Amino acid sequence: MACVMDGNGRWAAQRSLPRTSGHRAAETTVIDIIEAARAAGVEWLSLYAFSTENWRRPSAEVDFLMHLVRRVVRKHAPLLHARGIRCRFLGATDPRIPQSLARDFADLMTLTSNSRGMTLTVAFDHGGRRDIVEAARSLIHSGIPADAVTEQTFAAHLPFPDTPDVDLVIRTSGEQRISNFMLWQVAYAEWVFPPVLWPDFRAPHFLQCLHTYQQRERRFGGVLPNQNGEP
Ligand code: IPE
Ligand code: IPE
Ligand code: MG
Repeated sequence: MACVMDGNGRWAAQRSLPRTSGHRAAETTVIDIIEAARAAGVEWLSLYAFSTENWRRPSAEVDFLMHLVRRVVRKHAPLLHARGIRCRFLGATDPRIPQSLARDFADLMTLTSNSRGMTLTVAFDHGGRRDIVEAARSLIHSGIPADAVTEQTFAAHLPFPDTPDVDLVIRTSGEQRISNFMLWQVAYAEWVFPPVLWPDFRAPHFLQCLHTYQQRERRFGGVLPNQNGEP
């Protein structure tokens, strides 16, 4: 499952604070939700932290986010390791990412690479379209004949191809859009849009979203056995 962590700026605006205060307040939610997901038995959790489009924000906000993420990664690395959480970063290829941050990402991935608990994927400098274009490029470089390209071979060239399709995406703050998030993997995801802003989102909201998901009837384009029109 995945979370599009949205609403930090509005959380701050509601309090007449600068947008950056909203990002700072998001840290508590991130840790809370990682713990709640683990406790609920979630095996794959992806968190959308920074999109390829977020580079359009004012440079002071972008710089703040780079520093904040670095601080959060360093501070919580021991906890993530102790909890057996395997961490990885999806995207994070832009040269504007400070080298020190890229090193911290690599260090956390190495530290937790043998962990067997939940896999936490942080989508940072991530764009769904970029992943698809890069998979296409990688397929062409591999020399595979065009007729041999299937959904399976294509997906094998996406980053972290072991990541299963996303079943549930929670996007906080009431916004209802994909914003270029894991486009390939969310093809059949269920979406839940709680109105709560990300810094206010807590384990009980998260469990409510899981409950909503459990009530959904997933059809994958088919018909359910009891709805086949047979008498
Ligand atoms: C999400 O909160 C955090 C990032 C995109 C980094 P926003 O910063 O998008 O908050 P709103 O949407 O302006 O409220
Ligand atoms: C999407 O949120 C990206 C993250 C949550 C990291 P945005 O707030 O940037 O998306 P838009 O601009 O509303 O589509
Ligand atoms: Mg937003």
